[in-house]
Amino acid sequence: MPLPAQFLPDPLPADPMPIAAQWLALARERRDQPNPNAMVVATVGTDGRPSARVVLCKELVANPGYITFYTNYDSHKGREIEAHPQVAIVMHWDHLHRQLRIEGRVRRTPAHESDAYFRTRPWQRRIGAWASAQSRPVDSRAALERAVVDTARRFGTPIPGPEDLPEQRDLGADIPRPPNWGGYDVHAEAVELWIEGESRIHDRARWTRSVQFGATESAPVIYGNWSCTRLQP
Ligand SMILES: Cc1cc2nc3c(=O)[nH]c(=O)nc-3n(C[C@H](O)[C@H](O)[C@H](O)COP(=O)(O)O)c2cc1C
Repeated sequence: MPLPAQFLPDPLPADPMPIAAQWLALARERRDQPNPNAMVVATVGTDGRPSARVVLCKELVANPGYITFYTNYDSHKGREIEAHPQVAIVMHWDHLHRQLRIEGRVRRTPAHESDAYFRTRPWQRRIGAWASAQSRPVDSRAALERAVVDTARRFGTPIPGPEDLPEQRDLGADIPRPPNWGGYDVHAEAVELWIEGESRIHDRARWTRSVQFGATESAPVIYGNWSCTRLQP
């Protein structure tokens, strides 16, 4: 499939999220990289120090404009987000010569959505989510593997291994989502779209808007209007 124009539209569209969604879809279609939905998520600690790691984008909702990833709420990133619910995200598709940056406010994904997503995960990963206290120290690889075996026994499944049989696919359907595992929705407050240009004269634009959370977790999010500007590369 040919690549669409290597410039951002001129004039810029009012809302960048449909283009962001289109780029992710294009990266998936082209199958040029094993994880086209991989993204770096940077968080900030209470000491002001940033930390970053790769996670997988499980959903990019163009309207109203948020991105979801799943993790352990007690992990290093989880603890930082709970204390300071603000992250920066980067997705880079080398073969598309494009970069997407999103900064936003974070809220836990509604529990029923995290439950639904957890149910779609293979049973081995559901065992893994219970067995691993993500980001905590572990004495040895053997200790970690023992934790997996103990968890599998607890839920009455076989021990996850490389030779799991196809008929085991539906095992563990009743393994519930761990209470400390679920999604984070990153509601975009700033989006930058970047396309590589000839002679390093790249095409860049940044959109910003306000995002307000209601008093309770289920209160609707209030989004301001986007404003945008083209940037020098
Ligand atoms: C390609 C790739 C995809 C990953 N996807 C996830 C993910 O979706 N969720 C997650 O918690 N960790 C994921 N990880 C592991 C994280 O990079 C990280 O090691 C882990 O979440 C612990 O990070 P923390 O200690 O900063 O919380 C992924 C790593 C790679 C390389």
